[in-house]
Amino acid sequence: MNNFDFQNPTRILFGEGTLAKLGQEAAAYGSKVLLMYGGGSIKRTGLYDNVTAQLRERGIEVFEVGGVEPNPRLSTVRKAIEISRANGVQFILAVGGGSAIDAAKAVAIGVPYEGDVWDFFVQKAQAKSALPLGTVLTLSATGTEMNGNTVITNWEENLKKGYGSLHAYPKFSILDPTLTYTVPADQTMNGTVDMMTHVFEQYFSLTPDTPLQERMCESVLQTVIENAESALANPEDYVARANLMLCGTYALNGGFISVGMRGDWASHGIEHEVSGIYDIPHGTGLAIIYPNWMKYVYRERIERFAQYAVRVWKVNPDGKTDEEVALAGIQATRDFFTRIGAPSKLSEVGVGDEKIDVMAAEAVRFGPIGSFKKLNKDDVAEIYRMSL
Ligand code: NZQ
Ligand code: ZN
Repeated sequence: MNNFDFQNPTRILFGEGTLAKLGQEAAAYGSKVLLMYGGGSIKRTGLYDNVTAQLRERGIEVFEVGGVEPNPRLSTVRKAIEISRANGVQFILAVGGGSAIDAAKAVAIGVPYEGDVWDFFVQKAQAKSALPLGTVLTLSATGTEMNGNTVITNWEENLKKGYGSLHAYPKFSILDPTLTYTVPADQTMNGTVDMMTHVFEQYFSLTPDTPLQERMCESVLQTVIENAESALANPEDYVARANLMLCGTYALNGGFISVGMRGDWASHGIEHEVSGIYDIPHGTGLAIIYPNWMKYVYRERIERFAQYAVRVWKVNPDGKTDEEVALAGIQATRDFFTRIGAPSKLSEVGVGDEKIDVMAAEAVRFGPIGSFKKLNKDDVAEIYRMSL
C-alpha cells in the first residue's frame, strides 16, 4: 500500500425527501445564485419548479443557464461565467446529471480566475479558488456529486478534457434516489457502466498489499451488478435506485475505496477522445472500450483479473488456469454490459476507423497513459481497432 493524503470536503444529504433541505442549504452561501441544468428533464419532472420555489422562498435571486449539453460544452461554460461575473453571483447550484454538475464546477473555478477557463483543462493553469457549489443529482453515474473533477468538451477543437481540483468539490450534494426514477433505460445503462468502470480504473492496479481496498472495490461492483437490472425492470424501485446512487458516489469520490493504490485511468482518456469527436454518451463508449482494454492488458497482473472473476462473477476456478479464469471474468463483464443494453462495437454507434490516428495521438498528448500497463499511441490505436 502506498502512502496517501485523502480529503473529501463534500457534505452528502442522502435519501427520499432530502430535496426539501435545498433552500436552507443554499441560503448559507449568499443571496445570488446561478442555477445550471440540462436540456429540460428537470422541467418535465417538476424539479425545476420545486428548486426555484425553495430558492425564492429564502429570498435568493436566481440567474439561470439551462440547456447544458450531455458532454457539456466549453461555450456554455464561458457564457455562464460571463453571466455570473456580470451579476455578482455568489453561489453556483447544479441540478441534473454529470454534465450539468461538471459545467457548474467549471464555472465555479472559472469565475475567480483571470484567464480563460480552458487553461485548466489543457494543464496551463491550476485553480486557486472557486465560488461555492451545491448540487442536486438526478442521475447515478459519474460520482461528480462528491469529487473535484470536471470534464468539458471544446467542440470547436473536438477535444474533451478533464480537470480535477480540491476547489471544485461541491460544498453539499443532495442525493434523493426518487429523483432518478425518470432516468430512461439507456441512461441507466450508461450510468451503470460508468460507475463500474470507475471502480475498475482503481482496482486493476499494480500496487501490492491492498486487501481492504480491493474488497471495497469488489463490494461496490457486486452491489451495482445486483441492482442495475432491478432498476431497469422497475425504474421506481427505491431500493435499487438508492443502491445505485450510493455506488455511483462511492465509485469515484476522490479515491475513498482505493486510498494508497495507483489508479490506471487510460480507458477514460481513450473514451473521452471518442465522445469529443462523435458526441456519444460516455458510458456507451466505456462499455465498448473497457473490455477490450482488459483483454489488452490482463497479462500484466493476471492474478488480479482472476481474483476479479472469482470474487465478483463467481467464476469457478477449479481445474482452470489463471488465464482461463481471468478471461472468463472479462467475458462476464462484456455479457453483463450486453444484458443491460450496451453496444459492444464502435461501429454500432456510428464510429469508424477514420479518426483512430487523431484520437490515439490526442489521448497521449501529455505522454503515455495508464499505469497498469503504460500505453503509447500505437497501443491506444490497437485498442480502438479491437473496439471497431
Ligand atoms: O439534459 P437533461 O434534459 O437533464 O437530460 C439528461 C441527459 O439527456 C438525462 N437525465 C438526467 N437526469 C435525468 C434525465 N432524464 C430523465 N430523468 C432524470 N432524472 O440524461 C442524459 C444524460 O445526462 P448527463 O448529465 O450527460 O449524464 P451523466 O451523469 O452520465 O454525465 C456524463 C458526463 O459526465 C462526464 C462524462 O464524460 C460526461 O460528459 N464524467 C464526469 C466525471 C466526473 N466529473 O467525475 C467522471 C466520469 O468519468 C465522466 O467522464
Ligand atoms: Zn467515467
